[in-house]
Amino acid sequence: MRLDGKVAVVTGGTRGLGRAIAERYLREGASVMCAARNPHDIDTLLESSQGRARYCYTDVTDEDSVGKLMRETADAFGRIDVLVANAGVSRDGKIGRLAPAAWQEMVATNLNGVYLCTHAVLPYMAAQGAGRIINVSSSMATRVAVGAAGYCATKAAVEMFTRVSAMELAPKGILVNSLAPGIVDEGMGRDLTGNDKVWSVYRRRFALGRPGRADEVADAAVYLASDEATYVNGHVLEVNGGLLWA
Ligand SMILES: NC(=O)c1ccc[n+]([C@@H]2O[C@H](COP(=O)([O-])OP(=O)(O)OC[C@H]3O[C@@H](n4cnc5c(N)ncnc54)[C@H](OP(=O)(O)O)[C@@H]3O)[C@@H](O)[C@H]2O)c1
Repeated sequence: MRLDGKVAVVTGGTRGLGRAIAERYLREGASVMCAARNPHDIDTLLESSQGRARYCYTDVTDEDSVGKLMRETADAFGRIDVLVANAGVSRDGKIGRLAPAAWQEMVATNLNGVYLCTHAVLPYMAAQGAGRIINVSSSMATRVAVGAAGYCATKAAVEMFTRVSAMELAPKGILVNSLAPGIVDEGMGRDLTGNDKVWSVYRRRFALGRPGRADEVADAAVYLASDEATYVNGHVLEVNGGLLWA
């Protein structure tokens, strides 16, 4: 029960890594607001949560929607201790072929979404004098991946946003870190792990020789939200099994 009594917002908390983080937070005693545009099968989680989990329709690219998410969370649970800004999209394509709309979708979701969530949660955390923000980036924030310019660039921006936020918000008692998964056999990572031809190339880049599991990412998200991380701020925690990117 490392998050007993805490209240967390997890964007993209309906499926993939966000869902795994939400489930793990619940097991650690937190109350969790799962935010996304579609509920998917979130009902199964809500039913088993004894009222500690809720779903809020949210589009992280929309300022009003994100504001409503934070209000609904505070109304439902009384406070907001942790924000996991996890919602993200990846649209592949070399720059010449990448449609402007796909580029803009990545910027709007991966970067603007993180800013809008921080901006909206700030008054709640500042009033409490405490909070944790975990911005999910990616190992691709710091590696060159041909055909993934928008994804790499937006995730790199998230990591710098994290560092600046950490400096600005520390005086308010709010700690801000990034969690950077490598390739996980869950969510969008399955596009790589599920393709034998692609994975046979990628697997050689991992010291452990296997993709990560969603629960291994959730472990790191628990740590960053927990009382064990009171002196960790402005850090990028890579969870990638030892990634050697040639
Ligand atoms: N899986 C990996 O291997 C891996 C590796 C490194 C980093 N990451 C990062 O981890 C995060 C989660 O990825 P994932 O693999 O779990 O992806 P996923 O399975 O595609 O899930 C993405 C989640 O984000 C939500 N989302 C997307 N656009 C949104 C929007 N505009 N507003 C609100 N919610 C939105 C989706 O729900 P709706 O579409 O219903 O809104 C969904 O719940 C992402 O930031 C990703 O970049 C993943």
